[in-house]
Amino acid sequence: MYVIGISGSPRKEGNTAILVKEVLKHIKGRKKFVSLAGLNLNPCDSCDRCWKENIECVIDDDIRWIIREIQKADVIILGSPCYWGMVSAQLKMLIDRSVSIYEKDTLKNKIGAVVVTHDIHGKAGYMVALMMANFLSTHGILYAGRVIGEGGAEIGHIKKDKRALKKTKELAERIMELYEITKGRKK
Ligand SMILES: Cc1cc2nc3c(=O)[nH]c(=O)nc-3n(C[C@H](O)[C@H](O)[C@H](O)COP(=O)(O)O)c2cc1C
Repeated sequence: MYVIGISGSPRKEGNTAILVKEVLKHIKGRKKFVSLAGLNLNPCDSCDRCWKENIECVIDDDIRWIIREIQKADVIILGSPCYWGMVSAQLKMLIDRSVSIYEKDTLKNKIGAVVVTHDIHGKAGYMVALMMANFLSTHGILYAGRVIGEGGAEIGHIKKDKRALKKTKELAERIMELYEITKGRKK
């Protein structure tokens, strides 16, 4: 099982990265962590060449190799800080650019999970997690669940959220269970 965990926070070692890594820690298998912080990322400009010409996205930046890597993975864990009740701009660029593989159906029947951090006593992360889960299922990815934790401006604060930390283990177990159930049945 190859698992990729992505943090969409602009803070490389921020609370979202910590929480994504916590989920990865509890999963057995080959794992790769990717932070979108500081990478060369660009938005989809809707040139539509990807689906009209059946080619890879023509924008040559870091999203290219990330999308290639996602297609190799069995499990995709998407992480984002809650920004104004939405995903971060960094993650949104990746989400939008994945239109380049939408028609190819290359993510179908992979397993996906969501990690969101919001402010202390924040609530909007629940909405963000729903949007992210909807994105995964639009690609035909089997949704394993989510962890939403209290991060905030202080890096490392997420480690005080014992409920979220406990949930990372439960989510990892659910991911491994889904993998066992579905492996060999994928197209
Ligand atoms: C631009 C911006 C917008 C934010 N919007 C919200 C919000 O709407 N609701 C919330 O609970 N927290 C909000 N936050 C707080 C972050 O979600 C929180 O600090 C998060 O844990 C940061 O993750 P990181 O440490 O991985 O960067 C916002 C933070 C920033 C910088």
